[in-house]
This record gives sequence, structure tokens and C-alpha cells, in this order.
Amino acid sequence: GAPIDVDLSPIADGQIVNVFWRGKLIFVRHLTEKEVADMKAVAPASMIDPAPFLGRVKSGHERWLVTYGNCTHLGCVPIANANGHEGWGCPCHGSQFDAVGRVTRGPAPINLPIPPYAFQGDTKVRIG
Ligand code: FES
Repeated sequence: GAPIDVDLSPIADGQIVNVFWRGKLIFVRHLTEKEVADMKAVAPASMIDPAPFLGRVKSGHERWLVTYGNCTHLGCVPIANANGHEGWGCPCHGSQFDAVGRVTRGPAPINLPIPPYAFQGDTKVRIG
């Protein structure tokens, strides 16, 4: 499929927008300063699928997460910020993901994958 452009300017602090590329759900998340700080503070060694913060967002654009939106267990769509949790919780079998999509509780075996994307200036990303 062709690349898609997402305008970031209307996406508020803390807001998550769903987009579709090649028929797949993608979350575009405008991380809050607190979420960035919290996510940077987690030691990769403690993770199920270790990934540093800068492996999840792009340097210079640390407030933006772009990730596929289907659970890596069996594909359900995780719910954002359920029960005061900063990330996502999967309604199907209880997997949890942090604010940058790293799995923090199984049965999901790996983090939410990151699609190919690039910033076009500070307020637009091109996915694909
Ligand atoms: Fe998400 Fe099973 S599909 S935990």
C-alpha cells in the first residue's frame, strides 16, 4: 500500500489516534512529559522483550509513539489507560503494554511492533 501522512498538530498531549495503513491498525500516541520520564526510567533488563526507550520512539521526537495496535498474542485491540494504567491492557487474555507499547505482562510474547515511518518536519509523520 501507499504511504499515509498523519498530521500531528491536532493530537493533544496524552491523546492516542487510531489510523490504518495496509489494513492494519496503528496507534499514534502523543506521550506526556510524565510518560516520557516514566518510560525512560524502566531498565530494559527487567522487560519481557527488552527494548530501550529510544528503540521505541525516534530521537528528537520523543513525545511521539507510532506502533501497530493489535496485541501480539492473538491480535485483539488493547485498551488504552485501562484502570489508571499508563499503557494498554488487552481485554482478551490480560496482556499489558506500557506507554511505548512494550509488553509488561503476558501472554503476549513481544512488544507491539513499530511500523516503518519517518517525520516530515515536526508536525507530520509518513507511515510506510
Ligand atoms: Fe491479547 Fe490474548 S489477544 S492477550
